Amino acid sequence: MNFDLKTLAPAAAASEKCDLLVVLVPEGFKPGKDALSSLAALALKNGDFTAKPGKHLQMYQVPAVAARRVVLAGVGDGTARAVRQSLLALGSAIKAPLTRRVVVCFAAPSVAPEAASAAVQAVAEASYVYTTTKSKAEPRILSRCIVGVPDAAQVREGFDSGVALVAGVELAREWGNRPANHATPSLLADAAKALAKLPRIQCKVHGPADVARLGMGAFMAVARGSEEPLRFIELRYNGGTRTDAPVVLVGKGITFDTGGISIKPAAEMDEMKFDMCGAASVLGVFRALGELQPAINVVGLIPACENMPDGRAVKPGDVVTSMSGQTIEILNTDAEGRLVLCDALTYAARFKPAAMVDIATLTGACVIALGGVRSGLFANNDALAAALQQAGDAAQDLCWRMPLDDEYSEGLKSNFADMGNVAGRAGGSITAAKFLQKFVGETPWAHLDIAGTAWKGGAAKGSTGRPVALLVQYLVAQSTATAAPAAASGRARASRAAKASQAS
Ligand code: BES
Ligand code: MN
Ligand code: ZN
Repeated sequence: MNFDLKTLAPAAAASEKCDLLVVLVPEGFKPGKDALSSLAALALKNGDFTAKPGKHLQMYQVPAVAARRVVLAGVGDGTARAVRQSLLALGSAIKAPLTRRVVVCFAAPSVAPEAASAAVQAVAEASYVYTTTKSKAEPRILSRCIVGVPDAAQVREGFDSGVALVAGVELAREWGNRPANHATPSLLADAAKALAKLPRIQCKVHGPADVARLGMGAFMAVARGSEEPLRFIELRYNGGTRTDAPVVLVGKGITFDTGGISIKPAAEMDEMKFDMCGAASVLGVFRALGELQPAINVVGLIPACENMPDGRAVKPGDVVTSMSGQTIEILNTDAEGRLVLCDALTYAARFKPAAMVDIATLTGACVIALGGVRSGLFANNDALAAALQQAGDAAQDLCWRMPLDDEYSEGLKSNFADMGNVAGRAGGSITAAKFLQKFVGETPWAHLDIAGTAWKGGAAKGSTGRPVALLVQYLVAQSTATAAPAAASGRARASRAAKASQAS
């Protein structure tokens, strides 16, 4: 679908031909003399409409308005959050039949770039439809959305980044939603290779022999039970100078998680096709980077395989040697995410990263702790944690920091290896993070547990594309820090640290 940005007051919006005109009305709205503004003022005065986010008033074939349907939508204080809330509440109107062209017009004297970005993202989110594996696909009806603001130049950057984010989020949603037999490790690798058509992006795919040569015994142990060969995907985005240390993103790419020999119960097991949403978010981030071209270097690593029970599958109690040399007693084959991630994190060290961030649908315990609102954030570095938390706030893609006290690793002790892959049930998302931490050394590292946020269950079952927006926001903020004139890496680091500490 196409998005356009226009300088458009409500008076001019009235003559835009479209199927749906959404007028975003802020609290303290000052009406002009035009028909639409007068209507909004009257509805407010009569109490038929309030400007709170989520409140709206729908009208049909309003005289002097070219749009077939008009909705007045409250946006409260006009922040990105309120704009998002308001447009998502209008989801069914945006997704309604015969709604091909939508105009979203801000009826405010000035609009923040983040609010324009939020409008673009919310309209895309509300109108998204999955079609790939339906025989009679009914594709997205909406084909064009115009965002009208008082001054287009003022919000251009926010608008453009919103459009880039939509491309990234929708790629992540697409791959998340595809059934496991349509999203095998090899197909994920093909999707990554396709991204290398974008400027400054390269992709290399390692197969089973390469991974064996690298000594990734933990990753290989998970893949053993599957007929589908594993893939280790390596993406690069080179927007910085050659000497800029990259940010490395590592995405869990379990294309289906049966639990292995420690098999999962049948109920809702289908949802374990979403166990590659971390990987999908890395693909989505690269899609957005290809669009935005920020001055930063980014590496994306995706260990991709299935976790299956089989005669050759790894068994509870088996001990494997990870790429780091540390041995692991696999006490529960369903704790497979940390096994594929630990080898990818060891591999990441070769890029001498400024920071590494892994993204994983890692634990059911994180769903219990934080639900579907915030992703779990774990970090061995306060500045990195603050930067990610702040990026999440700015992008309306929230996360919440969790503790990493050393006491939490007590339960990972093993009598037969350097560590076990599980501790008890208590603090399950934290002990999983403590396991990962054993593989990152001193490098600034963060782990995002997206088990609760990457997809929705029930009637709205489907991938959300989170946390693409958080990650892109973080990377773009890092790029402004490194792109400063004469940015010697020390200075850049200092300015990054300063920015981060301001934020905390
Ligand atoms: N992919 C799951 C985590 C998961 C479960 C995410 C349910 C969302 C909903 C992961 O591989 C897993 O199975 N984790 C186990 C770990 C346990 C065996 C220590 C879990 O959370 O139960
Ligand atoms: Mn599992
Ligand atoms: Zn899993």
